[in-house]
Amino acid sequence: MKVLFVCLGNICRSPTAEGVFRHAIEQAGLADEVEIDSCGVGSWHVGKAPDARAQQAALGRGIDLSGLRARQLTERDFIEFDYVLGMDQDNLCAMHELKPANSRAHVGLFLDFAGTPGAEVADPYYGGDEGFENVLTMIEAASAGLIQHLKRER
Ligand code: 4NP
Repeated sequence: MKVLFVCLGNICRSPTAEGVFRHAIEQAGLADEVEIDSCGVGSWHVGKAPDARAQQAALGRGIDLSGLRARQLTERDFIEFDYVLGMDQDNLCAMHELKPANSRAHVGLFLDFAGTPGAEVADPYYGGDEGFENVLTMIEAASAGLIQHLKRER
């Protein structure tokens, strides 16, 4: 099973999702069965490590994001990954535009798995530190929900 998290820049929300979900998958004993990656709809930050504030907030919950590097979403991702999960509606619109007709991937919002369909992980980039804490809390809830879903699908 391959899961890809998508946001705008791939330096705040989706690398946080990648790190938190990987940690949760390891805790659940599913590390051998699930591959995880993240990317951005935009290209501005390609090659960069996650935003220092995102790294700091994640470290506060025991998760190290320092090794991650931003990349841009491609058409091929919709063939390679089983789940392509966006953080907000703008991400989702851009994802649907790029998704090729032969993709069989589940394309949707990550927070649908937190039991809050339609809810968005708001962009924390221009806000304060509490925005990054909120991002982590929402992502932890959605990660738990996605793990339950994947276990049922096995
Ligand atoms: P992300 O946050 O999509 O969660 O990585 C953002 C990062 C950078 C920008 C916007 C959002 N930006 O405009 O550069």
